Amino acid sequence: MGHWSSNGKYTKDYDSSEAESDAVNQPPPKRRRVYKEEEEWSDDLVEVAEEEEEDEKEEEVVVEEEDDEEEEEEDEDDNDEEGDGGGGYEGDDDDAVAQLEVGYYSKTCPNVEAIVREEMEKIMSVAPSLAGPLLRLHFHGCFVRGCDASVLLNATGSNLAEKDAEPNRSLRGFGSVDKVKAKLEAACPQHRGPFWPVALGRRDGRVSSAAEAADQLPPAYGDVPLLTKIFASKNLDLKDLVVLSGAHTLGTAHCPSYAGRLYNFSSAYNSGPSLDSEYADRLRTRCKSAHDKAMLSEMDPGSYKTFDTSYYRHVAKRRGLFQSDAALLTDATTRDYVQRIATGKFDDVFFKDLSESMIKMGNVGVLTGAEGEIRKECYIVNWI
Ligand code: HEM
Repeated sequence: MGHWSSNGKYTKDYDSSEAESDAVNQPPPKRRRVYKEEEEWSDDLVEVAEEEEEDEKEEEVVVEEEDDEEEEEEDEDDNDEEGDGGGGYEGDDDDAVAQLEVGYYSKTCPNVEAIVREEMEKIMSVAPSLAGPLLRLHFHGCFVRGCDASVLLNATGSNLAEKDAEPNRSLRGFGSVDKVKAKLEAACPQHRGPFWPVALGRRDGRVSSAAEAADQLPPAYGDVPLLTKIFASKNLDLKDLVVLSGAHTLGTAHCPSYAGRLYNFSSAYNSGPSLDSEYADRLRTRCKSAHDKAMLSEMDPGSYKTFDTSYYRHVAKRRGLFQSDAALLTDATTRDYVQRIATGKFDDVFFKDLSESMIKMGNVGVLTGAEGEIRKECYIVNWI
């Protein structure tokens, strides 16, 4: 029940008994799996069904099992700098005043409409009641600042975003937008970031030793002489070291990998000179001790999912997360490289360098022919 106010707005009356009885009658949230033959895409879609469709009882889904594996919660606290530029595909026309047109992506992502349609059809088949929420999302998106997807943006710092506004609190369907976006990114990734050809024909080895791994992998506390020595043993030089370290533009690290830089100095609040003190303070709030194995921090805060050059800007500002990152400022060659790429004017140079170094790294100790085998199972050597 509700009522219309004099200004024409409809307000739903809150009926606590109704809410309570709803709560009592609600079945506990259930994990649902679709039938086995649909498994190719079922796991993805079932998340949508779980998150946004808990009240939906579709025939094609069955309760099968309790699944404890939740997606690791994303580390969003560190995104205080440099956004990653966001998604989107380069259209035919880069002109800012370009007109909208049907088939805008016909050259750059020809299947865009088909991909969106196919994914939406899958979502609708599992969770048809999301049709309403998605239509409303479109309406709320277009009514505020135009149809510019600002309704999808999360709050940052003190800025509450559109989705935090009262009328938008009940918006649903964000998970579906993510699903469709993921499909588009997979089919038509933005041409940002490096890529390289990979020559194939490597054989699989039959030996795997923990002692060798402990001995041969570079430690996070490594300085340039140590890292250079380790890299040289793999036919990689100083340039490869500084270039490949740029891979730390992606991903996250566990607290013990850098806690030594936060707490091993004269006092708990005095980190080493190689680490920016403000950044160290912030890291301390997240990484309480070297034993904190759960906490993750982005190595390239703000764009840890994007292969870009902002890692070098952090390192240049003494905000490299590991000692090995910070060490790149202690050698003239590596420092020059860090500072050059940090300007943001040489992204293409870095991408080309990275491609070359990745090819070199991919050729380390390759086995061919009778030197190895082609494993039947990834984790077990073949029976002879
Ligand atoms: C220069 C020597 C290197 C050192 C000392 C080093 C050290 C580390 C450490 C300590 C972590 C975090 C582990 C954790 O706490 O979970 C890490 C993560 C990572 N490293 Fe390196 N690394 C080096 C080189 C490389 C290279 C050559 C690459 C690839 C080309 C690379 C790619 C990555 C990526 C992508 C992650 C994030 C993984 C994730 O998100 O789970 N690193 N590295």
